[in-house]
Amino acid sequence: MKKIRRKTKIKYSPIHKPKVTIYRSRIIHPVSPLQVEEFKDGALVVDAGGKIVACGDYARYQKANGVKYDQAKLVDKRGGIIIPGLIDCHLHLPQLDLRGKHGATLLDWLKKYIFPAETAFANQRLAEDLSKRFFKKLILNGTTTAAIYTTIHAKSTDHVFKIAKASGVRVIIGKVMMDMYSPAGLQENTHNSLKESEALCSKWHGSSGGRLMYAFTPRFAPTCSEEMWLEVGKLARESGAYIQTHIAETKAENERVKELFPDYKDYTEIYEENDCLGPKTILGHAIYLTDDELRRLAKTKTKLVHCPTSNFFLKSGRMPVELIEEHGITYGLGTDVGAGTSMSLFTTMRHADYVQPHLAVSPVKAFYLATLGGAKALSLDSSVGNFKAGKAADFCTVDISAIDPRYKLGELSADEILSLLMYRGNGSVIKETYVNGQRLDVDGLKIKGEKISFI
Ligand code: GUN
Ligand code: ZN
Repeated sequence: MKKIRRKTKIKYSPIHKPKVTIYRSRIIHPVSPLQVEEFKDGALVVDAGGKIVACGDYARYQKANGVKYDQAKLVDKRGGIIIPGLIDCHLHLPQLDLRGKHGATLLDWLKKYIFPAETAFANQRLAEDLSKRFFKKLILNGTTTAAIYTTIHAKSTDHVFKIAKASGVRVIIGKVMMDMYSPAGLQENTHNSLKESEALCSKWHGSSGGRLMYAFTPRFAPTCSEEMWLEVGKLARESGAYIQTHIAETKAENERVKELFPDYKDYTEIYEENDCLGPKTILGHAIYLTDDELRRLAKTKTKLVHCPTSNFFLKSGRMPVELIEEHGITYGLGTDVGAGTSMSLFTTMRHADYVQPHLAVSPVKAFYLATLGGAKALSLDSSVGNFKAGKAADFCTVDISAIDPRYKLGELSADEILSLLMYRGNGSVIKETYVNGQRLDVDGLKIKGEKISFI
């Protein structure tokens, strides 16, 4: 076997030894859609700034402990498993309590449940209470990065950002924009919507050391004017922020878009012509797109989000992942709460397999999509998604015996562990959640008298 030669040998002088924390545990993390790296007795070495210094066999770092590192603090997590924090590429905070309320089809469900609940989100006390419960649930489910929709309400969105800041979770958040064919309480003036979104973006995008990010969030083509798309495209380019929206989730939605935008040749062209496609555009669902639309999405490096739990719930259909992969389009997973009924990415992982009648989505692949794949979809893979040195230490500690005490970690292969997490896992297996090397404390977000479950 060829020995890897390092170009420069790192010398640790007594003065420059870094201070680190070494987490000792079984470690599993993705390196590609087909492969994980595993350390049965592993060490995740994290510096004082919350960055990963190294990940490998504990024996290597044990020897190094005290030699390579000054003041290495050992945290013994043996008996558990360390995995990267889970990444949710699409969900709606104000829809938390609407999960499981049956609405037949997307457009009926929006009218019956979602639009009234989003109208009520104008109330800032309600927005604050909901946000605290929402971020607690993210933490309890091991979600360390999330791309979140709020509602049209700028002040409530500002509250969501404040609570996101306090929670410690890594977020992309956007105020929803709706300037046509929307219910009375949710219909905005185009100019105001743009101004408010721009102000939120200037205030929050890149704050808290880059942990808080902004996404311009026009809801979808049926509720946003041509002018809105054009101006959003400009604002996103100028600010470097994201655009997140929906595309082609149901056939009825596509029909409506044809009616409203007869001059565009297809759904994708509305976003394309108004300069809203690109590497930092995140499109949810993408079920009913033509081959030509997929080709153009690939060309612009636009990202997609697969939301299988939601697609089951609303009977929307299935994302054609085989075509999307053929076109080389990057996609991640989204719980899509509240059409998605679960906050757990383990549920989304299993549904990503169940929803495909002719394809097997393996546990290794689903794990990749919920971690490194999600990071790529959000253009954050240089900083999160796996345990490559230099990335942020975003991770969870997992207890497989929470699925059943009869499971003994030492008797399970990495494939079996990922399979159990995918097909039987939920928030109960997540013991701790870390972002930037800091353990997130769910009790930090105080809600009087209320005990929050992970469900
Ligand atoms: N399309 C436009 N708005 C929504 C929403 O809130 N949920 C889902 N699933 N699809 C949408
Ligand atoms: Zn959505």
